[in-house]
Amino acid sequence: MGDHQHPAGHGLFISFEGIDGAGKSTHINGLADAFRALGRTVTLTREPGGTPLAEKLRALVLNDAMDPLCEALLMFAARRDHLRQVIEPALARGDVVLCDRFTDATFAYQGYGRGFDLDVLGQLERWVQGRDDSDRLRQPDLTIWFDLDPSVAAARLASARSPDRFESLPVEFFARVAEGYRQRQRGDVGRFARLNADQPVSQVWRSVLSAVVSRGWLPAQSLS
Ligand code: TMP
Repeated sequence: MGDHQHPAGHGLFISFEGIDGAGKSTHINGLADAFRALGRTVTLTREPGGTPLAEKLRALVLNDAMDPLCEALLMFAARRDHLRQVIEPALARGDVVLCDRFTDATFAYQGYGRGFDLDVLGQLERWVQGRDDSDRLRQPDLTIWFDLDPSVAAARLASARSPDRFESLPVEFFARVAEGYRQRQRGDVGRFARLNADQPVSQVWRSVLSAVVSRGWLPAQSLS
């Protein structure tokens, strides 16, 4: 992959994670532009969502009251449809798939945040992300984790638009979610790039770029 290309049939799957208010969105769009400038086709997508069915599930899960099991099942139902309809076909075409959140969010929010059984989540992960062509589960090639102190995130969210079911939760919830991300990183260190999201936007952007450049997926000049 020295020329920053990937063989046909082998796309690149990058997910973006962090507690609400960590500031992922601008950088996801910036990274999409950086890959497009290299001539790569980018599939820009998000979870929960990314397909007509999964977007309907997103509206339910972000707005309607439900118990944690229901919440976890809907997240994985949305993910299943998203994988089959969008992510797997895009990777098979050789696209760069940039996904705003993936399964780490379910472990962090439903598992650590809500206290839902991590073993059950692990079983759902195996069902939903199992593949016909490999013994390995489908996981991102890289997960860029925007790590931010929950109290800083809370201050950012306080000045934002009307909050959804998650954004309106107390700072203690987000402290547990942040711990969930730490644990997921510990379980799969090579897949994660942790960056300090409590910096000026330009610094955060450099950290995003260097995570991708250091893996040989964008040229070093992207950093200058
Ligand atoms: P977003 O605001 O970053 O688009 O994410 C939507 C919300 O859904 C966010 O508060 C995190 C939450 N979420 C979960 O609780 N579990 C999940 O599996 C995913 C993907 C998102």
